[in-house]
Amino acid sequence: MPKSFFATILFLLLTHALKAQNMHPYKNPDLSIQQRVDDLLARMTIEEKAGQLNQLNGGVLTGPQAATDPGQTGKLDLLRTGQVGSFLNVTGAEETGRVQKIAVEETRLGIPLLFGYDVIHGYKTIFPIPLAEACSWDLAAAEKAAAIAAKEASAAGIHWTFAPMMDLSREPRWGRVMEGSGEDPWLSGQFSAARVRGFQGKLDDQHVLATVKHFAAYGAPEGGREYNTVDMSRYALWNYYLPPYEAAVRAGAAAVMNSFNIFDGIPASGNRFLVTDILKTRWSFQGFVVSDWASFGEMITHGYAADTANAVEKALMAGSDMDMESRVFQQKLASLVRSGQLPEARLNDAVGRVLYWKFKLGLFDDPYRYHNPTREKAALLADQHQQAAREAAANSMVLLKNEGAILPLGKNLKSILVVGNLAESQDEVLDFWKGQGEHRHTVTILAGLKNKYPEATIEFVRGYDKTNTFIAGDATVIRQKARNADVVVAVIGLHGELAGEARALADINPAKGQLELLNVVKSTGKPLAVVVQAGRPMVLTDVVKNVPAILYAWIGGTQHGNAVADILSGDVNPSAKTVMSFPYAVGQIPVYYNHYNTGRPHRDGNEGPNDFWVSRYRDIPNAPLFPFGYGMSYSSFAYSDLAVAKNSINQNDTLRVSVSITNTSERDGIEIAQLYIRDVAASRVRPVKELKAFERRLIPAGATQRVAFELPAQQLGFFDENGNWLLEPGAFRVFVGPNSRDVQEAGFVLK
Ligand code: BGC
Repeated sequence: MPKSFFATILFLLLTHALKAQNMHPYKNPDLSIQQRVDDLLARMTIEEKAGQLNQLNGGVLTGPQAATDPGQTGKLDLLRTGQVGSFLNVTGAEETGRVQKIAVEETRLGIPLLFGYDVIHGYKTIFPIPLAEACSWDLAAAEKAAAIAAKEASAAGIHWTFAPMMDLSREPRWGRVMEGSGEDPWLSGQFSAARVRGFQGKLDDQHVLATVKHFAAYGAPEGGREYNTVDMSRYALWNYYLPPYEAAVRAGAAAVMNSFNIFDGIPASGNRFLVTDILKTRWSFQGFVVSDWASFGEMITHGYAADTANAVEKALMAGSDMDMESRVFQQKLASLVRSGQLPEARLNDAVGRVLYWKFKLGLFDDPYRYHNPTREKAALLADQHQQAAREAAANSMVLLKNEGAILPLGKNLKSILVVGNLAESQDEVLDFWKGQGEHRHTVTILAGLKNKYPEATIEFVRGYDKTNTFIAGDATVIRQKARNADVVVAVIGLHGELAGEARALADINPAKGQLELLNVVKSTGKPLAVVVQAGRPMVLTDVVKNVPAILYAWIGGTQHGNAVADILSGDVNPSAKTVMSFPYAVGQIPVYYNHYNTGRPHRDGNEGPNDFWVSRYRDIPNAPLFPFGYGMSYSSFAYSDLAVAKNSINQNDTLRVSVSITNTSERDGIEIAQLYIRDVAASRVRPVKELKAFERRLIPAGATQRVAFELPAQQLGFFDENGNWLLEPGAFRVFVGPNSRDVQEAGFVLK
């Protein structure tokens, strides 16, 4: 062997050893994340630390157009000097990759960026709105939908989604109910955890960080008006509003987002009770808290912070960690810490939390693992994703009425007349939170019916225009075309874009022009099926009286129209049950099943002399038009023989309840059986019913199956106003049925 060979080997070994010695420990993948975070923190200036807590709205940051836009180049300058730790709304494998390269190669420490985005119900393949998805009561499907959304988003350079939104809400006037999971705290919590699992998986490069939002109680704005005041008791907060967020935290969500509202007079972003006492201390949340868009700065407008410096102090010291787009951290955080007005320890804690997740995602070891255009191309709108979206949509559409078994339409139709602008317009199929979903990829109801019935004559008449004004001239056309039609499908509802943030509505009745259209169709005497397309429950009282069949299709995402056609035709047997009560009238809102009894309850229909001084409206019923948990199927089910295993249990026991369900029809069908309890007398009044368990089960035609529920007695308790869990002995009622109204009832005692 030549001498020079040994010399080379020796040289290589030596340089490797030296390199390893000189390599900053934070770059060493063999060390623990905590060791790496500590090392990196020790190397960072106060300004660089503040930079990690600054999240800016990106948009398109590179390329010729951005290069001439001082707003965009200014953001990149901030990035180069270590003043940005994260962007939102920068998307696409190539664009995010280019911006990541600047962070990694041009900043002093090369700390990679986090790219966040609102992947609410899909990235490119859009699934049904989350509210609809919850009506499927199918947790596995929700988890799968989130996993597919994560797969597409991560392929497009996104590390982090601002979902799941877990704001419990009883407010159909509020545009954001579409993002939530309805009015039940326990069921919402189940979906919360399922979605976190779906988004985050094992946090490989096919998954994204999840954010539970908006913390807390954002779903209860007064009057349903967006961004409005929230004023509620701590008793309500603990029992109704907090459980869905807690479930996400327990499932390991990486981030929590502050909400815009106040709680107990203090804006959520600066609310120490919410962020530090509950979230970080009581729930031991290890992730980071991001503001909502500009919510740190808005504390000044709220009248809670005197100026920018004060807003920074209040946000940071409440326990919030990252500033989304207020730029108050950018302006003041470093100087306040440098001057000793804010403790560096709190800054370090906040930065450490953010860095932890950057390490966890593997970004320090391979900063470009999410920026692969080939993977992106293969993932977006993949066939399996579309198929899953179609199934999810069909499983979330609620059949509200089906008189005379108008539905299903069957496969032998020769001619269908479709009416209503919403049936045809691709612009209406997606909502405000459509991610990167494109209208041109969506299937309208008209298109879905054409796909389903390629041989049939399918005619379309608009009936009302974009402003929902009845098109008078269409009346004659409808009458004439209806003559040859086997059936008329009328589509009414709300514009897709009316579902989402800043979309509060005072009136959620169908537009007058849509009702006029229904009248014309009715006058033809043809079988009529109405499909409602909307991102929230509407007031359907007039419609229900007038039409025989109603399918509530919500906003079903990319495959919306195919899913509607699957149900109308009968290829899919509907099984969804609503997770929000449908109000009888707007004046009845908030209307929800898990209310208290009051000292003077009223039962609709009781009109005796003793029913005057009671809690009721004099002009409408107390009950909603359709109760929580309600939904029909093409099958029919009968419940019988409710049995409680033991009529007395102790606190370490399990409550065992069973019921027989018979599919009394000739069609296999899925039934969602629900179990509710009521604590008859307690140290605080308890709701008249509380959902505690459910079973979603396929029951073959004609079969009777015994469905058994098990509920640990520990779960029969509730929170007091200080968040203590109370398990109080005494009498309970238990109810089982197909919805929250039509139940069988039994009793037991908790010892
Ligand atoms: C919304 C958040 C969203 C954020 C970023 C805010 O206006 O309230 O839910 O994540 O914008 O788009």
